[in-house]
Amino acid sequence: MSSGAYFGLARCVQYAAFAATMIVGIASGSEAQDVCTQDTYTITTQSDADALGSCNNITGLITVQSDTLTSLTLSGIQRLDGSLAISSCAALTEISAPQLQWINDNFTLSSLPQLTNLSLPALETVQMAISWISIPQLTSPSLKTEGVDEYGNPGTNIYGDLTISDTGIKTLDFFNFGSFSRVEDVSVTGNKDMKIVNLSSLVTSSLLEFADNGESFQILLPKLTTAEGLSLQDVMQFDISSLTTLSATLQLENNSFQAFEMDQLNAIGGDVIVRGNQMMNKFSLPALTEIGGGIYSGDFVIANNSALTALDGLGKLAAVDGSTNLSGNLYKVSLPAMDDMSDGFHLLTTVLEFNCSSFDRIFYSSDISKYPDRYSCGTSGTRTDTAIHYHPPSSGPAIPKATKVVIIIVCIVAALLATGIGLRWWAKRRRRGRVPEEPPISLRELGIAEEEGEGVDGLPPYRRTDWDTDSPSSAASKTEGDSGDGRGLAEHFYTVA
Ligand SMILES: *[C@@H]1O[C@H](CO)[C@@H](O)[C@H](O)[C@H]1NC(C)=O
Ligand SMILES: *[C@@H]1O[C@H](CO)[C@@H](O)[C@H](O)[C@H]1NC(C)=O
Ligand SMILES: *[C@@H]1O[C@H](CO)[C@@H](O)[C@H](O)[C@H]1NC(C)=O
Ligand SMILES: *[C@@H]1O[C@H](CO)[C@@H](O)[C@H](O)[C@H]1NC(C)=O
Ligand SMILES: *[C@@H]1O[C@H](CO)[C@@H](O)[C@H](O)[C@H]1NC(C)=O
Ligand SMILES: *[C@@H]1O[C@H](CO)[C@@H](O)[C@H](O)[C@H]1NC(C)=O
Ligand SMILES: *[C@@H]1O[C@H](CO)[C@@H](O)[C@H](O)[C@H]1NC(C)=O
Ligand SMILES: *[C@@H]1O[C@H](CO)[C@@H](O)[C@H](O)[C@H]1NC(C)=O
Repeated sequence: MSSGAYFGLARCVQYAAFAATMIVGIASGSEAQDVCTQDTYTITTQSDADALGSCNNITGLITVQSDTLTSLTLSGIQRLDGSLAISSCAALTEISAPQLQWINDNFTLSSLPQLTNLSLPALETVQMAISWISIPQLTSPSLKTEGVDEYGNPGTNIYGDLTISDTGIKTLDFFNFGSFSRVEDVSVTGNKDMKIVNLSSLVTSSLLEFADNGESFQILLPKLTTAEGLSLQDVMQFDISSLTTLSATLQLENNSFQAFEMDQLNAIGGDVIVRGNQMMNKFSLPALTEIGGGIYSGDFVIANNSALTALDGLGKLAAVDGSTNLSGNLYKVSLPAMDDMSDGFHLLTTVLEFNCSSFDRIFYSSDISKYPDRYSCGTSGTRTDTAIHYHPPSSGPAIPKATKVVIIIVCIVAALLATGIGLRWWAKRRRRGRVPEEPPISLRELGIAEEEGEGVDGLPPYRRTDWDTDSPSSAASKTEGDSGDGRGLAEHFYTVA
């Protein structure tokens, strides 16, 4: 065997071995990066969870439901193109997903009465909703605190709805909102120990609802500028100072803050409902121009705020699209820009000397006076209304401007006519007997401009003899038509003379 042939064989073996290594390498590599796809992965035991450990990336829905499972670890999974739903696990105390970075759809935890430890140290993104409901023992979930995601955002970013309800969480400050600083609906309700919500990077959201959380509950949304609706209940302190626009409703009920002041808020597209805020002595939205006006009707209701005695921080409010119902211990209500109450205005106060005049005036001077049931202003607590009222000068129906002009013209004409006739009578007295035949006198000679069709120029030439020889029928024909016209007056006057 030549050395050349031997060398060739060795080369061949070498290449074959190399190729084999490459193939094995690729195969094992692709095993580590396995993408597992299935509609639904149902986990009831830890070994079900371990079986997914070789799938770095999973496409599908993972549901976990078990009465006996006490601890769940989802190791190996990095990316879930689907939702993760862990619900109704009566005994589950711990959940951990050490490598999980991305959930493409929803992340739901619900009815986990024993859950105390939730560890998601790598979770960067939940593309859709986070919904954590009925997890009363969970006080401090452990989420990603360091580093940034592929968009450069720190912590755990969420993009869909955020619902945290009936959990033991004390401080909610571990979410960010991606580069748009935007989230959909936020609902934080019934978390009995929650003291503070600090979503300091949030700029835009849909509906925001906070209700029934811990005592002295505080909300920090310092960068929030636009939202659809805002509902605060049982809140003691808040910083929402950048808010400029609400496209839907503002609702404030049973809060314990002393003042609600938002200097930037200039538009509220839905209702404004302010009820049962016992400590609130100031309600001030100085930039607000309109309530409603969009797709919502926009009612304005103030009721049961016992410390609120003056409503005078609404200097620019010009229109309320729905009905305005204000009640309470109101001593002063100032709505200087408001000139339209056509969809209803009712004010009822316990202050006996309340001055309703300015609202009465708007009522009498606007279209709403056609619908008396849409307006009321008065005092409560006594049998009779003791408020101060404005009454329009005339109790009859208001006289339209055009009618007034006509009345003034008629008066002037009548006055001139009377003067003219008076002058004629005076002249006649002077000349009586001296001049047998008097020339006819007309208003034109008295310096009064004659106008066509006014009736005044119809004054007949005056001849004494005519009258004496007039037959009753010709006299009747002379005065036929408008009995108040110049002719009738002249004849009457002559008869008296
Ligand atoms: C698997 O998930 C990781 C982490 O999210 C991601 O970087 C990678 O592109 C995914 N691989 C595949 C094949 O989808
Ligand atoms: C995610 O949750 C929202 C509610 O927040 C729901 O409307 C939506 O259908 C859910 N999506 C999926 C894929 O389950
Ligand atoms: C579980 O959470 C509690 C407090 O919530 C913490 O003290 C404890 O160390 C956690 N246990 C584990 C194993 O992480
Ligand atoms: C709210 O969060 C921001 C950013 O994380 C932080 O700077 C600020 O101190 C927090 N405020 C309170 C009162 O915790
Ligand atoms: C506010 O408190 C009153 C009296 O406690 C209660 O009747 C009402 O339902 C509460 N309103 C809301 C929206 O919870
Ligand atoms: C005000 O409170 C009383 C007693 O709590 C309740 O009966 C009434 O319905 C409340 N009015 C409004 C408008 O909420
Ligand atoms: C306002 O008060 C009137 C009369 O009391 C009532 O008919 C109407 O339903 C109230 N509207 C609202 C929005 O409370
Ligand atoms: C009531 O208010 C009107 C202005 O709206 C004012 O002119 C009037 O003097 C006030 N009446 C009393 C008694 O204060």
